[in-house]
Parts: sequence; C-alpha cells; structure tokens
Amino acid sequence: MIYLNLFITFFKIGLFGFGGGYGMLSLIQHETVERAHWLSTAEFTDIVAISQMTPGPIGINSATYCGYTAIHNAGYGHLMAVLGSATATFALVLPSFILMILISRLFMKYMHTRPVRSVFAGLRPAVVGLLAAATLLLCNAENFSTPMENPWQFWISVALFAATAFGTGFLKINPIRMICYAAFAGLLLTSCTTGKVKYRIGVSQCSADIWRDKQNAELRMGAYFQDNVELKFAAAYDSDERQVQQIDSLVNEGIDLLIVAPNQVQTISPAIDRAYDKGIPVIVFERKTSSQKYTAFISADNYEMGRVMGEYIISRLHGQGTVLEIKGLEGSSPAIERHNGFMEALKKAPGIKVAASLQGDWTEPTAYETTKLWLNNNKEVRIDLVFGANDRTAMGARKAIAESPLPSLPTPLYCGIDGLPGENGGIQLVRDSLLDASYIYPTHGDQIIDLAIRILDGKPYEKETMLMSALVTSDNAKVLLMQSEELMRQAAQLDLLHEKADSYLHKLDAQRVVNWLAIGIILLLVVVFVLFYLYHLRKISMQRQRVANTLWNMEITPEVHATSPEDGTTAPVEESNLDTVAETPKDAAEQPDEAPSGAIGGAFISRFREVVESRLDNSDLSVDDLAADMNLSRVQLYRKVKAVTGSSPVELLRTARLNRAYQLLLTTDKSVSEVAYAVGFTAPSYFTKCFKEEYGMVPGDVRK
Ligand code: FRU
Repeated sequence: MIYLNLFITFFKIGLFGFGGGYGMLSLIQHETVERAHWLSTAEFTDIVAISQMTPGPIGINSATYCGYTAIHNAGYGHLMAVLGSATATFALVLPSFILMILISRLFMKYMHTRPVRSVFAGLRPAVVGLLAAATLLLCNAENFSTPMENPWQFWISVALFAATAFGTGFLKINPIRMICYAAFAGLLLTSCTTGKVKYRIGVSQCSADIWRDKQNAELRMGAYFQDNVELKFAAAYDSDERQVQQIDSLVNEGIDLLIVAPNQVQTISPAIDRAYDKGIPVIVFERKTSSQKYTAFISADNYEMGRVMGEYIISRLHGQGTVLEIKGLEGSSPAIERHNGFMEALKKAPGIKVAASLQGDWTEPTAYETTKLWLNNNKEVRIDLVFGANDRTAMGARKAIAESPLPSLPTPLYCGIDGLPGENGGIQLVRDSLLDASYIYPTHGDQIIDLAIRILDGKPYEKETMLMSALVTSDNAKVLLMQSEELMRQAAQLDLLHEKADSYLHKLDAQRVVNWLAIGIILLLVVVFVLFYLYHLRKISMQRQRVANTLWNMEITPEVHATSPEDGTTAPVEESNLDTVAETPKDAAEQPDEAPSGAIGGAFISRFREVVESRLDNSDLSVDDLAADMNLSRVQLYRKVKAVTGSSPVELLRTARLNRAYQLLLTTDKSVSEVAYAVGFTAPSYFTKCFKEEYGMVPGDVRK
C-alpha cells in the first residue's frame, strides 16, 4: 500500500510542481511531512541539503540535449542521437548515484553520531539561506514584470506572491489548493488587463547591420500607429541554421503573422513553408524564397538596380575601363539579381571589362579580405572602378585597395548600393566622395507593417509590391542628405513623442493600479475591522453568558452574610426595556459598601438566585423588588452583584429568565409564547430575540 501511496504522492508532486525543484519544495514538505508523516521536518531539511549536492534539472536537461545534438551534428540518425542523450544523462547522474549510495549508507550508519548531527545542524540554516537566495533571485522582472513595464501585472504578481506565502505559511492552506487559487486569480485578473495585444507579428531578419537597424526602427514606428500590435524581432546574423530555428520558435510562440527576409533563397524556404502551412500569413520582404508559399512580397527591384548601376558606370567611365565586382552573399536573391542586372547592362559596352566578380557576403570585412587576396594575385591589373553589391562591400574593397597601392592612376571610383541616410550611410559617403555613387535600397518598415495589418484585418492588399528607389550621385547627394536628415529628425521626434505618451500611459496605469490597490486595502481594513468588532462583541457576550451561567448554576451554599437594607431610588425594571435601563444608579458613589468575596460571595449569589427564581414569572419584577427581597438598597444590590459576578442584576435577571425558558422548552411541551410569558417576558418576539442573542438559536430550535 505504501508503494501506491508513494506513487500517488510523487505523481501529484510531479504534476503540480511548477517552477522546478524550488517550486516543489513546499508541496513536497506538505505531502511528505505534514500529510503522510513519512519524514520529520529535520529529515526533510536534510534531504534538501543532500539534494543541493546532486545535479539538478539544468545539468540533466543540458546533458540530455547536448548528448542528442552532439551525435546528431556528427551525422548520425535519430535513434543514435537518443542513445547519445541517454549516455550523457547517465554519465551525469552516475557520480551522484554512487555518491548518494555511499552517503546514504554512511548517513544511516552515523546519522545519530554527534559529528554528523553537528554537520547537519550547520547545514540546515545554510540550506534555508540558499533557498532564500534562490527565492530572491526569482523575484525578477521575468516573473513579476516591473511597475513601469506592466504595472497591472506587477501588482497582481506581488499580491499573488504575498497571498500564496501567507496562505501556505500562516493559514496552512494546502499548496495544491493555493496553486489552483493563484492560477484562477491570475486568469481572472490578467484577462481584464487593459491594452491587450491584438496582433503578434514576428520579424525574422537574416542579418543585423545599419540597414536592418533602420528598417527595424521603421517597423517599430509603424507598429506605434497601430492599436496593440506587438513585434517580436529575431536576427540570424547571416546564419541559415539560426534563421530556421528562429522562424520555428517564432511560430511556436504563437505569432499571428511572419515578416521575413530570408538569408538565402533555398535554405530558409522550408521553415517559411512550415509557418505558411500552419496558416500563418507570411510577408517576404527584400530577399526571395524558392517557394510560392507566402502571402505577400515587398521589395525594390534588385535586377533593375544592378542594371541602372551598370548603365551609370558605363557613362561614368565613358564606355572604357576595367571594373572589379564584389558580389553579395552567394545564395541570396538580391546578390544574384543585382549581378545579373549589372552584367546585362555591361553587355552594351564592350569597352568595359570586368576584371573579376569576387564572392562577398554583404559584409565589409569579407569584402576587404577577398579584395586583398585578389589584389595579391593580380598585382598588375589596373582597376578603374569597383562595384560593390552594397555600400559596405564597396567600402571594404576601398580599404583593401588603399592599403595595397595599385598600378592604377588615378585611384579607382567606388559604387555601391543601399544609399542609407545618416552617419556613414551611403548618401554621406557619396557627398564626401568616398563613394562615387550609390543606389537607395528602400527599407520602408512602416509600409511593411501597414501591409501586415491589412492582411490581418482581412482587407484587400497587393500580393507583390515594388518599392521605388533612386540613384545617388555627387549631383544629388547633398539635397538627399538634407532631406533624409530632416526626415530622421522628425522620426526621432515622433519616437520621443511616443516614448513620452508611453510613459504617461504607464504612469496613468500605475496610478490606476495604486488607486485600486488603495480602495482594496481600505475595503479590506473595513472588513477586518467589522469582523474584529463582531468577534469582539460575540466574545463579550459569550463571556458574560459563561460568567452568568456559571454563577447562576453554582451550588447554593448556606448563607453566611446579610447586609442591612439601605434603600436607593426606585425605578421599575421591565423585561422589555432591560437593555436601555441605566444599570449604575446615580447615587452609587455615595453608597459605601464592600464587595462580598469568596464563600461569602457564593452564598450571597445563591440567595440572590433563590430570590430571582422564585419571582421569575413576574414581568413587572424590578431591581427594587429584588433589592427589597434581599434586604438591601438598590445601589447595594447593584454593587454586590456586580462585584461578585461582573454582571448587573438586570443582566442576571435576564440570564435567569432565559435559563428557565431553556429548561421549560426542554422539559415541557409549552409553546414558545407560553414559555416567554412563563419566564416574565411580555412580548414573545422580544423573548425570541433575547434567546437568540444568548444561545445563538431561536427557541424553536431547542426541541429539534
Ligand atoms: C542588409 C543588406 C544590405 C543589402 C541587403 C541585401 O542586411 O546586406 O546591405 O542591400 O541586405 O539583401
């Protein structure tokens, strides 16, 4: 049976142990220590201490993953990779396994010895410290968000954290229940969050450079103008594998649309197809895929750009000269198309020779290295112009040529493509005569976002969009630069404006959360106060009832004390105004009297009880009557009764009436009204009210 219990318990722990080992701890403690009593708290802490010495989930998961990947990357199949995974995992746990066996054997043997106990006495607080450190580390923006980033989520998280800690720590609520409460509260509270994201758009950039930076900024700017659009960026840094992985994980994250610039035509297509097949609309921009599985394509015409550049170069060299070409990344469509367009144009100028078309990869360092290598092998060739597939490539070649003087005189001209505005952009390079010409390769991120939203909103859109572009030469570079700088300035201002609006909105959000929090706290305080007050009232009434009942039911002992009568004022006390009558007579202070104590008090109260009980059915019975029967003044009676019982004669009279009523209800078959009259109440409804106050139930319930 214990095996089954063990299985069920640890299955439960496994099922609800969100957050890994640390998250499971309170659950494990609850199940094994508090519920099943399999372990003492000290033993539990020892287990935690020992667990710290063995490899945790990170180690295990890394070994499993690494074992698989290593074998897979070495060219083996799936099964072998699984074996690799198992080998690495087994190897990782083996030392701990051996150690654990040794430790547990030793532990069992020596656990009761003084040194071992001392070691664990030191370890326990340290383990608690470790856990505290882990807890503090987990209190980060990932788990709680931040007041600036998402004040709503932040405060909800803080409240849930405090509630869970308090609930499990102090109220001893079962952790599983607490987890369910928290999950439900999270669901409820975060679903009413304002500013819910409408569309999640994934942007997969093949590379990261100033051209992509500009485009990403425009994409962001485009998203600002849309309602609740979230962009998720991924940059593959020119790696096919990375881009494929990134696209897959964007898709797994649940994006609504994918914008992608594929690194190379063939390599990225399968990942794009997968996304498209899952029903995710795909916008391919600027670089093409080999598949037709995309929703829209947007780009400038790369072939045309190469062709126009070719024509420009022909006219620049007056139809005569030698050109060195540095191409873009081999399998990427702009590289292929620009080259083809360029070559096509040159066909018309037989006087222009292409000394070489070197393979670049869009980056400056590769262009530099490739050119340098080529120059070393072609020392005698005179170059009149270098055409780089982009500006960075042209600049890389320029650097290489500057370092190794060519036999050419004067120095060659350099042409590129991209024509970016801003610092070190193509337009500036042309203006500063570092480049002879460039061609604006438009980024237009905002336009891409517009297209994306049209697709997502189900509005009509163009499947193929060709963006306009233009040649940049020394003739127009200055003007273009001025214009683009002005545009950039305005864009920066818009950005600033957006940031400010964002921060105001955040502040507003935070303010709203604080307001709600304040209202919540006030309500909570009011509820706590009311509960406390009710509790206090109930406690007092129960205390009174207890005192009165105890005293009332005390054994009657022979009277040993009698006080001479001294009368005060006479005000009849009726049951119907018991609660409102003044219980301390005005002249009480003037009436010297001593409080009966011990047996004397007992005897006094016994006598008082006799007197009261003999006249219970009299609804007109007043304190004066009772005092007279006791041979005391009203004031004396009040003082003595109060001193002995803590209650006033009126209160005791009522207790006596209700006590009798209770007995009558139990022992006779009188109706409630008859009982009420029998114990001196003039109104049955008032009797019921008093009865309920005294016994917490209505008279009719006594017989049930
Ligand atoms: C930017 C870039 C540009 C080039 C384009 C080609 O990543 O390399 O310089 O014009 O990509 O796709």
